[in-house]
Amino acid sequence: MSRSPLIARTVPTLRRAVDNLRKRKATVALVPTMGALHDGHVSLVRLAKRRANRVVVSIFVNPTQFAPTEDFGAYPRTWKADIAKLAAEGVDIVWHPAVQAMYPQGFATRIVPEGPALAGLEDRFRPHFFGGVATVVGKLFTQCRPDIAIFGEKDFQQLRVVTQMAGDLDLGIRVIGSRTVRERDGLAMSSRNIYLTPDERRIAPTLYRAMKESAGRIRAGETITSAMARGTEMIEAAGFALDYFEVRHAESLAPVTSRKDGPLRMLVAAKLGTTRLIDNIAV
Ligand code: PAF
Repeated sequence: MSRSPLIARTVPTLRRAVDNLRKRKATVALVPTMGALHDGHVSLVRLAKRRANRVVVSIFVNPTQFAPTEDFGAYPRTWKADIAKLAAEGVDIVWHPAVQAMYPQGFATRIVPEGPALAGLEDRFRPHFFGGVATVVGKLFTQCRPDIAIFGEKDFQQLRVVTQMAGDLDLGIRVIGSRTVRERDGLAMSSRNIYLTPDERRIAPTLYRAMKESAGRIRAGETITSAMARGTEMIEAAGFALDYFEVRHAESLAPVTSRKDGPLRMLVAAKLGTTRLIDNIAV
């Protein structure tokens, strides 16, 4: 039978629980999430378990990374199912602060990330996003003080931003990226996939197919410009409204013009009806 994780709702409780783990010389991994857990999150937890002795999962829907027009209020919250999944995976601690505990009255300090946070990808369409993510992840890191932290590659720019932040601020936490988990038809798992209508759900895997085809063409010697133009046509013909579909340097996220500028990453963001999907693959 699976054992329920300890649920910490205040910083002192969390600190005590993590200190207790440490007394037994355990290494600690943190998996930050906003809940609504799916198999992609489970794979992050499994990677955490392979890399550390003890695992803390945070569940916190972070208001500061949502714009007023976005889905903070409607973001799926599935607490009971989340805890059951984490218990089944043998997670040790769930860190679940209230918004008031995270951002008490008078909170006045923010982290303003630059570099990969200003690459002109997500930041162009969600300018509030990485400031909110960096601030909350900075807090989660200093609250939990883990040895390592696991983030999904699906939010590739986010992974670059938190990796850069952990290094720049000498946090002493190793950030590890975990491969994107996909549905059988290629759609990247996301808590927001539940917003798709049945018709949109059928169309959604086109994004992955277009990326794979374009990456294949680039690898076969076609120019990036021409391969991406064909991919763009495919995505738009399926009914998506594209925000961006680009190839960038996989580490700096700087623009590239040829395969020789690599390692390369292809990144896409597009709206299908009212749902915005993002995805990326290595080229
Ligand atoms: O990727 C997410 O779910 C969130 O952006 C994160 C990293 C948990 C910060 O709120």
